[in-house]
Amino acid sequence: HPRVWMGLLLWLALGSAHAQWTVNMTPGVTDVSRSVFDLHMTIFWICVVIGVIVFGAMFWSMIMHRRSTGQKPAHFHESTTVEILWTVVPLAILVVMAIPATKTLIEIYDTSESELDIQVTGYQWKWHYKYLGQDVEFFSNLTTPRSQINNREAKGEHYLLEVDEPLVVPVGTKVRFLITAADVIHSWWVPALAVKKDAIPGFINESWTRIEEPGIYRGQCTELCGKDHGFMPVVVEAKSKEDFDAWLAERKEAAAAERELTSKEWTMEELMTRGEKAYVTACAACHQPGGEGLPPMFPALKGSAIAKGDAEAHIDIVYNGKPGTSMAAFGKQLSPVDLAAIITYERNAWGNNVGDMVTPKD
Ligand code: CUA
Repeated sequence: HPRVWMGLLLWLALGSAHAQWTVNMTPGVTDVSRSVFDLHMTIFWICVVIGVIVFGAMFWSMIMHRRSTGQKPAHFHESTTVEILWTVVPLAILVVMAIPATKTLIEIYDTSESELDIQVTGYQWKWHYKYLGQDVEFFSNLTTPRSQINNREAKGEHYLLEVDEPLVVPVGTKVRFLITAADVIHSWWVPALAVKKDAIPGFINESWTRIEEPGIYRGQCTELCGKDHGFMPVVVEAKSKEDFDAWLAERKEAAAAERELTSKEWTMEELMTRGEKAYVTACAACHQPGGEGLPPMFPALKGSAIAKGDAEAHIDIVYNGKPGTSMAAFGKQLSPVDLAAIITYERNAWGNNVGDMVTPKD
C-alpha cells in the first residue's frame, strides 16, 4: 500500500536522525550549515504536507468514486475560483520557501572580510593547502594503508580514511577557501560545514566557513576524478586560536629551515644520501628502485638517454612532468632540495653520469 511506503520513508528519515548512519543531510556545526539544514528540513516538511494532501485527494477520489459505486463523473467547464486557488496557493508556497533560501544563499556567497585565506588545490589524488600570506603550504596525503582498506571492506566494516596532514583552521574565525585544481576537476566537500565547491583547473571557486567547536570534520572529494577518486579524503582539524597560532608558528619555522637548506652549500655525498631516500619515496613506485621502468608509461631511468645526456631536459621532466606519459610534475610536490638530490642521485646511481651534481640553487 502506498501509505505504508510513505510511512516507511518517514520512519527512515526521522529514525536515522538518532542513528550513526543517516539517510538525511548531516546537521550542521556552523551558522551557515545549520541554516542549510533547517532550510532543507523546512522544505522537506512543506513537501510532505503537499504530498499528503495531493496523494490523499487522489487516492480518496480513486477509492470513493470507483466504478462499482455507479456514480457518474462531474461534468463542468472552467472554474475561476479553482484556477485562482491553484495559481495563488503554489505561488505563496514558493515565496515562503524562497525567502529563507535567498537569505541563506546570500550568506553562503559572502566571502568578504575573511580573517584567513586558504588556497585549496585538488591533485590526482590528494589535496594541497596553502595559507595565503603565511608562507605555509603542504599536501594532505592519504595514509590509511591499502591492505587495511581492503581487509575492512571485505568484512563490511566502516572505516575512516586518514591523512598525514589535515587542514588546520582556528575556531571562531572566518576562513575563506579559494578552491582550484592542478589536473582534472575535483570537488572539495565537508558536509558538516556545508562547504561543497568544484575544484576546476584554471578557475578559482570561493567558499568560507566559521567553525565554533574544536574538532575533526571529515569530507571527501565529490567529483569523479580518476581511479583513486574514492581515496581522496578531506580532513579539517579546528583548533582553538592559541593552538592554531602555535601550530602556524611551528610550520613557519619549518618553512624557514627548508629555505635555509635550499641556500646551503651541498656536497655530492650529502645530495646522494638525501637523493636515494627521496628517490625511493617519490620515484621508485613507478620507475623501480633499481631504475628499471614500466614501459611505455614509465620508461627505465637506468642507462636512459636523458639521464646520460641533457641535464636541463632531465630537470625539466622531473619538475614539470611529461605529457603523454604518467609522469607527474614533481616541481610542486617536492622541495627544491629533494628535487636536486633526486636528479643528482639518478644521474650517478647507475653509473650514467658520475660526478654530475645538481644543487638546489640550480
Ligand atoms: Cu578528486 Cu574525485
